[in-house]
Amino acid sequence: MKILLFGKNGQVGWELQRSLAPLGEVVALDHDGAPGLSGDFASPDSLAATVRAVAPDLIVNAAAHTAVDKAESEPDFARALNALAPGVLAREAAACGALLVHYSTDYVFDGSGEAPRTEDAPTAPLSVYGRTKLEGEDLIRASGCRHLIFRTSWVYAARGGNFARTMLKLAAERDTLTIINDQHGAPTGADLLADVSAHAARMTLASPALAGTYHLVAGGETTWHAYARHVIEFARARGVPIKVAAEAILPVPTSAFPTPARRPANSRLDTRKLQQAFGLALPSWQQGVDRMLTEIL
Ligand SMILES: NC(=O)c1ccc[n+]([C@@H]2O[C@H](COP(=O)([O-])OP(=O)(O)OC[C@H]3O[C@@H](n4cnc5c(N)ncnc54)[C@H](OP(=O)(O)O)[C@@H]3O)[C@@H](O)[C@H]2O)c1
Repeated sequence: MKILLFGKNGQVGWELQRSLAPLGEVVALDHDGAPGLSGDFASPDSLAATVRAVAPDLIVNAAAHTAVDKAESEPDFARALNALAPGVLAREAAACGALLVHYSTDYVFDGSGEAPRTEDAPTAPLSVYGRTKLEGEDLIRASGCRHLIFRTSWVYAARGGNFARTMLKLAAERDTLTIINDQHGAPTGADLLADVSAHAARMTLASPALAGTYHLVAGGETTWHAYARHVIEFARARGVPIKVAAEAILPVPTSAFPTPARRPANSRLDTRKLQQAFGLALPSWQQGVDRMLTEIL
């Protein structure tokens, strides 16, 4: 089997290089591409020639414009990366019969209410990022290609910067921390996303009726405040020097940190459809975060 992976150096793309390897030959590209192959999502049309040259059975797209606040001031660029380029990949996947795996986000929803959203819940993005990611989903669904769209949230990886590293740095330097406690979601490891993607892609290649849109996040839920406390107390218990006292990690509302892009307050996603379709059990968010912390501490 031939697999074409885009965004190979992102959080999810890096883990996909590992998880896709046992499935077949992986041609993995970042935005610089490779000799004769473009991986640049800023030029969506250049991607068509790449797909035709590789002639893959499976296309996995982990590239995206993920700078949520920056997207507000460069909506056309965000649209090229998050909507138009995936639309080209979908058109080419339909033409060559490849399965397309793509990632989307809880930001396609407005975050109202408290219940976890199912895949068919009404979408209403609050930001340029959310709108462009939703347009990317719509273009893929309209193309007629076989596809798996995984909506996820609060993605972290051991490699590179992440929320936990930032909290640990601040906790070592400051007496007090203020962390948002009115956004609810599930921190989800890039490793989990990559492992489930490989498993689901393999099953969907064998059983095309499994194609569709799925919610894919770790089990349970938390807030940024409780997530930060979990990270800091885990590190403290392992002897990492921490200055801030547990009771000085203070909860604040989102309004305390104004940002250009509005975030959904309720990022809870219902994952029962995915677990049932693919026979999987999604581990708790703490399990993945503890593993990542063990790796980085
Ligand atoms: N991060 C989250 O919390 C989160 C939440 C929900 C959904 N998602 C979705 O999950 C997927 C993976 O996200 P991630 O966290 O792995 O993102 P990431 O770490 O920011 O990686 C994004 C990738 O896109 C690449 N990219 C940027 N501009 C590009 C361009 N012009 N052409 C080609 N590639 C370009 C980046 O390459 P360079 O680094 O080389 O520029 C990077 O490899 C995305 O679809 C994202 O929307 C993420």
